[in-house]
Amino acid sequence: MEENRLSNIFPKENDIPEKFLLKNLIEQNEYLIDGKICSWDGSHQDVFSPVCLNVDGELKQKLLGHYPLLTEKEALTALDSAVSAYDNGRGCWPTMSVTERIKCLENFIGCMKDVRDDVVNLLMWEIGKSYADSAKEFDRTIEYIGDTIPALKELDRTSAKFVIEQGVVGQIRRAPLGVVLCMGPYNYPLNETFTTLIPALIMGNTVIFKPPKLGVLLHRPLLKAFKDSFPKGVINTVYGEGQTVIAPLMASGKIDALAFIGSSKVANILQKQHPKPHRCRFVLGLEAKNASIVLSDADLDLVIKEHILGTLSYNGQRCTALKILFVHSEIIDSFLNKFTEAVDNLSIGMPWKDGVYLTPLPEANKISYLSELVEDAKEYGAKIVNKKGGLNSKTFFYPAILYPVNSKMRIYSEEQFGPVIPVISFKDTEQPIKYIIDSNYGQQVSIFGNDSDTIADLIDPLVNQVCRVNINSQCQRGPDTFPFTGRKDSAEGTLSVSDALKVFSIRSLVATKDIAHNKKIFDDIVKNRKSNFLSTDYIL
Ligand code: G3H
Repeated sequence: MEENRLSNIFPKENDIPEKFLLKNLIEQNEYLIDGKICSWDGSHQDVFSPVCLNVDGELKQKLLGHYPLLTEKEALTALDSAVSAYDNGRGCWPTMSVTERIKCLENFIGCMKDVRDDVVNLLMWEIGKSYADSAKEFDRTIEYIGDTIPALKELDRTSAKFVIEQGVVGQIRRAPLGVVLCMGPYNYPLNETFTTLIPALIMGNTVIFKPPKLGVLLHRPLLKAFKDSFPKGVINTVYGEGQTVIAPLMASGKIDALAFIGSSKVANILQKQHPKPHRCRFVLGLEAKNASIVLSDADLDLVIKEHILGTLSYNGQRCTALKILFVHSEIIDSFLNKFTEAVDNLSIGMPWKDGVYLTPLPEANKISYLSELVEDAKEYGAKIVNKKGGLNSKTFFYPAILYPVNSKMRIYSEEQFGPVIPVISFKDTEQPIKYIIDSNYGQQVSIFGNDSDTIADLIDPLVNQVCRVNINSQCQRGPDTFPFTGRKDSAEGTLSVSDALKVFSIRSLVATKDIAHNKKIFDDIVKNRKSNFLSTDYIL
């Protein structure tokens, strides 16, 4: 009965609201290299939506279009273009004044806003994110880019002065690293890609950008915006299989920084491919298994609200999602009652449906992976405690709350990245602390409770295990001005609006002995604006 209801969630072609219809297949042949939008006539990768359509009673993932499967040759052409635009730091982009670079970025923001509707619609279709959250992702990205500009001005202003120490005069600024390869994740294909790509660009690096495996076509409307806003070669795109297009880039030894958000397994492979890894800066956002610790005096209504957000926003496909719940034994029953009810009442459906919370999942084989996790947990003694938990149809999986979970189960330590919610009851807070210490991951934790003594006792050990302790709130990345990072296998490098500018640059300085002759040379360069680096120009 319920299963039937699930298969009915998929629409027929003519049930799709007019506003969200994709009238034609998106046959992307374009890619951007060296300031030119090139046309590809080789093989392509078909793109299917996680949204299935009911065609004469049969459910089929909707075909959205295709993108180019470039080869090593095009990847190396993109590399040559980025290397030559950087020109060992002598290119027009790395030597351009910050004011000029900001103008290019402002132009880009304008062009990006013009294609908002197309990008948001594709984001929704390609990764199954609700329309509201897809729009939020777009707007958050625009805001992030906008906030980057004042952050950069501030960074530049603090560098627009000379420092005199021990008879040495110096001007210390931040200089670019070189060629940056940017690769984002499928769950935030726009936002998380741009939170590395934009800071990398604006600091004067040249960039090669590969969209994630899922969430590719949505970048197509932005190719022209990139082309029209930045000098040639400053931004280049590659499309295709990682092994074909990324491995040769890394093996060339010419990538100076890699921004990668994905799995630690892939990050390790990429790191090893670089012949001189110490020459490449790695900025990595990897797995996480964020825990929540619900103390006996926690406000249960707030706990439920934050746990719905924490475990199931975008179906739990967030690196910051709450992926294991430790609930005090005194309140475990009332927690499970309220939580299961709240989960089973969530709105399911297609991403365009108003107020929809649970939508189809885009990753291939995800439903069988999640089902395996559930079966494995059941084998070791867990039960699915919510009525509809684990029901599935094609690409849709109903969230399964598993209880009681123990260390023998895969779900105890594996990052599920989807709607399976393991719950453990505890009597002593030592148990969740020990879990976090033993975990391979160290991104964030959430603590729910009301007693400040108990909370304080948890804060002090936990800030040294993870990089953000959230009190009475789910785990999250935002606000984007806050540092976002992790320990162990969760991250390398710190991102935030201002940290990202630092992570894609290096401190470089011009110094001289503080004597009259040298001062005269400095004076002449500064007064006559002979250098963009050695300069006291103040950007307002
Ligand atoms: O997938 C990881 C994202 O950075 C999480 O960001 O906490 O704002 O959803 P969020």
